[in-house]
Amino acid sequence: SFQAVLFDLDGVITDTAEYHFLAWQALAQELGIHIDRQFNEQLKGVSREDSLKRILAHGHKTVSDIEFMQLAERKNANYVTMIQKVTPNDVYLGILDLLKDLRANGKKIALASASKNGPFLLQQMQLTDYFDAIADPAKVAASKPAPDIFQAAAQGVGVDVHECIGIEDAAAGVAAIKAAGALPIGVGKAEDLGNDIALVSQTNQLTFDYLNDVWQQSRG
Ligand code: G6P
Ligand code: MG
Repeated sequence: SFQAVLFDLDGVITDTAEYHFLAWQALAQELGIHIDRQFNEQLKGVSREDSLKRILAHGHKTVSDIEFMQLAERKNANYVTMIQKVTPNDVYLGILDLLKDLRANGKKIALASASKNGPFLLQQMQLTDYFDAIADPAKVAASKPAPDIFQAAAQGVGVDVHECIGIEDAAAGVAAIKAAGALPIGVGKAEDLGNDIALVSQTNQLTFDYLNDVWQQSRG
């Protein structure tokens, strides 16, 4: 069976994907660029810098390197303000039970988020102690859809990445899991994540039994 689960954070463990969207939308609006939820699908899982590049390209805008840095910082400051109010009550349904069941069954748990705010959010939700490793997005060469962060997360818990399940809500993240050689489970819709992987529409479907079933069906 699988030996570890590599979790994305935003949009998988809690609803911070929405805060990222709202913070990017506010910044884009200042620049006279309109972004909607459909465009936002391309930003999910994507690093802060790559997200800003995509927004600027979408608005046919170029900025100086200094302005680029300031814009990225401004978005993050707004986002950081938003996430101060995140509490353990904001953990998505089923996630805490899954973390407990994984631990009870000797499975390793790692975070594979592109967000530099990941460790702070785990603390806000009082989930830090469940995680055996947190991959550092500042230390990986390439961001999602490249496999690096999932490889680093598997390495962090000392498990071959082929023995891991990765859980993602973003197309870039699913691509990263596949590229790493872990088994993907998507939270979301086939139109966004593809119809070739196991998908749940709600996190309360992510039970330990479900993960075992998905593993048995594809690797068993
Ligand atoms: C995750 C989110 C993205 C976000 C990225 C960087 O991948 O899905 O929306 O842009 O992390 O987050 P950060 O908090 O470091 O700006
Ligand atoms: Mg995500």
